[in-house]
Amino acid sequence: MKNIASLLGNKKKFLILGCGFSGSFFAKTIRQFGYTALTSSRSQKKDPNSFVFNSENDIIPNEAIFDGVTHILSCIPPDKNGKDPVLGSLTNKLKSLSLEWIGYLSTTGVYGNTKGNWVSEEDHPNPSQQRSQKRLNCEKEWIESGLPVQIFRLPGIYGPGRSTFEAIKNKKIRVIFKKDQLFSRIHVADITNAIIYLLQNKNSLKFYQIINIADDEPCSQIEVIKYCYDLLGLEMPKPIFYEDAKSELSAIAQSFWMENRRVSNKLLCETLGYKLIYKNYKIGLNNCFLNIYK
Ligand SMILES: NC(=O)c1ccc[n+]([C@@H]2O[C@H](COP(=O)([O-])OP(=O)(O)OC[C@H]3O[C@@H](n4cnc5c(N)ncnc54)[C@H](OP(=O)(O)O)[C@@H]3O)[C@@H](O)[C@H]2O)c1
Repeated sequence: MKNIASLLGNKKKFLILGCGFSGSFFAKTIRQFGYTALTSSRSQKKDPNSFVFNSENDIIPNEAIFDGVTHILSCIPPDKNGKDPVLGSLTNKLKSLSLEWIGYLSTTGVYGNTKGNWVSEEDHPNPSQQRSQKRLNCEKEWIESGLPVQIFRLPGIYGPGRSTFEAIKNKKIRVIFKKDQLFSRIHVADITNAIIYLLQNKNSLKFYQIINIADDEPCSQIEVIKYCYDLLGLEMPKPIFYEDAKSELSAIAQSFWMENRRVSNKLLCETLGYKLIYKNYKIGLNNCFLNIYK
């Protein structure tokens, strides 16, 4: 990665709204380059860089948090009514700031079921799940807000601390077989690095408001699980047919199996020139594995 401090300029302050898995990775990385990054959680944390934002009980950050903010990354999902929690609570505040950029982490669920076909940003969203309809609504709210937002559509996020290894360790793994079923995925480091790459090159690259961040190789879940068992030197349990496993799955788990799509990263990786760190699950899982044993 180039020296981003020189490329982004020095006086940048990031607010990461929703410091969960992706938000905390982004905050940690951007701080390594010397930037200020304050992060929100719904409850008080010991971390001095953390502040409380909770749209559920109207806890809004104080004025000082927003002082000098130039960049915001929202990693907060839609509320139960399908409204965006950040816009619902903070639109006027955000409009009063001199923001250069807002990133919004969305999902590729907005594309709906393509029966295994590739989807790109040019395809019309066609969400079938209610939660994806809510997500599309939030995307629309952000676009209509007139704020300088860029939307990143993400497939399944994994990385150190949240991967198939943890599912195996916590005995939460189900080895399910469904013919021709594929999933797209993305390593958390590529979400962060792709966003930083786009910010670094903002002045030279054409601006796209919606960008998929996915790896190169959608594949079956069994391939991924088998790879992890092999790395661990353990034998994978015998797969169960989806039809047999279905009744034991939660509604949310079932909903994931009802959609089948390959998410294209051509806009990001070919048109815009981003080079993935983890272009497939094998390289990404090797990284997760090394992190377990480091
Ligand atoms: N996980 C995936 O595979 C996946 C795939 C595609 C897209 N996405 C979406 O991408 C985004 C980032 O994903 P992630 O897995 O990194 O998220 P995550 O770990 O679940 O973190 C979500 C963050 O949002 C905060 N939050 C939730 N509701 C809130 C509210 N009403 N008010 C204020 N803060 C609220 C949470 O606060 P606390 O820290 O207090 O809990 C948490 O920090 C999310 O929108 C997620 O839905 C996720």
